[in-house]
Amino acid sequence: MQIRKNLRNSNFIVFDKRNDLLESAAKYLFKLLKSKRNPVIGLATGNTFEPFYHYISSNYKKFGCSFKNATTFNLDEYVGLSETDMNSYHYYMNAHLFSKIDINPSNTFLPDGSSKDLKTEVLSYEKLICENNGIDLQFLGIGTNGHIGFNEPGTNPASITHVVDLSESTITTNSKYFKNKNMPRRAITMGISTILSSKQIVLIATGNSKRNIINKLISGKITQEVPASFLIDHKNTTIMLDKSAGKDLIG
Ligand code: GLP
Repeated sequence: MQIRKNLRNSNFIVFDKRNDLLESAAKYLFKLLKSKRNPVIGLATGNTFEPFYHYISSNYKKFGCSFKNATTFNLDEYVGLSETDMNSYHYYMNAHLFSKIDINPSNTFLPDGSSKDLKTEVLSYEKLICENNGIDLQFLGIGTNGHIGFNEPGTNPASITHVVDLSESTITTNSKYFKNKNMPRRAITMGISTILSSKQIVLIATGNSKRNIINKLISGKITQEVPASFLIDHKNTTIMLDKSAGKDLIG
């Protein structure tokens, strides 16, 4: 079963079965890998994406795809964590995806949270995305406070890659992932404008904890207080939900 709802330019789909959601989201990626010679993919982290990356790495060959000519840019990284730190998004990406697919590691990019010169780091990250002609397909999760990447409520929609002070709600939510360690209070994130420059966007939200924020998106009000609401007017955004996150769309 699938329920669809269009809201201005964006398209919401609620899936009854988790596997159908994963398969459907993966098809966007597989289609891009097959149709573009040098695809540029934007990637997200978080719990939501673990089953997705598992699905991708287990199935891409079956669908006749290869990542050999693909380039990836991740949305964000914690400030102060090196790529070998188990809590870093570098580590997450290697563990869940990059080590399991045929991508060239030198074509995978994440902001360097351990940089001693963050001002230069954020500008070079943004520049690198532009030099690669922007992102063809950006995957996004959503924070319970509506953040995309680490663009917290109140972020300027014109923002490009920048350093952000994480909100107390994000620190509370994400602290559970940090074992024996306080989580960093700052991160580097692509800006809202960086994200909105992507040619196509797929946002995935699963579980009851995302139900309230999805309802705010569905209300259609575009506001800095819900950074994800800017997606509603993006030219090609699909929001994929499981039946818990999309419960109020089912009726
Ligand atoms: C994290 C990341 C986001 C992610 C979101 C949801 O803080 N910065 O990129 O999409 O929050 O995470 P989860 O899937 O664990 O709910």
